Amino acid sequence: MNKSLRKPVIAGNWKMNNNPAQAAALIEQLKPLVKDASCEVVACVPYIDLHAALKAAEGTNIQIGAQNCHWAASGAFTGEIPAAMLKELGVPYVIIGHSERRQYFGETDLTVRDRTRAALDAGLKVILCVGELKEQRLRNITAEVVRMQTKLALEGVTEKELENIVIAYEPVWAIGTGLTATPEQANEVNLLIRQLIAELYGKAAADKTVIQYGGSMNEKNAGELLAMPDIDGGLIGGASLAAEKFAAIVTATKQ
Ligand code: PGA
Repeated sequence: MNKSLRKPVIAGNWKMNNNPAQAAALIEQLKPLVKDASCEVVACVPYIDLHAALKAAEGTNIQIGAQNCHWAASGAFTGEIPAAMLKELGVPYVIIGHSERRQYFGETDLTVRDRTRAALDAGLKVILCVGELKEQRLRNITAEVVRMQTKLALEGVTEKELENIVIAYEPVWAIGTGLTATPEQANEVNLLIRQLIAELYGKAAADKTVIQYGGSMNEKNAGELLAMPDIDGGLIGGASLAAEKFAAIVTATKQ
């Protein structure tokens, strides 16, 4: 379904792992393994690693991302980082709305919307995460939940700005659990997100929007997931911490 209109994005979400020296070392290992990638390659690292990661990735096809940003430009928000500071540092990507932020740090659909707004205003590319909880899947409300999360996060986003958004469908029950969605389950939700984008922005915009799958994606299951018509890449947690595994997922986009 017009998959050729989209360049896949394989992004590592390192979460709270690797100090700056380890970050630089992992990027050094990755460089030769992903240099011929036909997809975009992104590593989303802890804030404190950004400087070292950017330096290590300079002049390569590895792009660096942060794992969150605040909605305000500055002010009394202890522990937070504004989008403009990331931009000034030279960071191109930021993850917004990851389920761990929603579960453990009180992130809501509206703070996700506001952080997305701030990131776009600062000129960052956003990896916007959506996905249902296990209880929601069991109650058959996956479609409603994912549509609502996506629609609210995109409130106020223009068609032009949508080009700077990658959507990551990450069923919460599949994250870090080893329970991967089947290719059919993942594609079904990616397709409904694409249909929502078509309702909101038209078919041409929907055809161009990169929609990833995330949740226990690894070097073994990546091939069949990435072969699905509406899965345009992956957001990879655990497997992004080992260079060979992450590189194998990057290579799987070539099939
Ligand atoms: P996982 O994490 O690959 O370890 O399941 C994915 C994510 O949280 O983005």
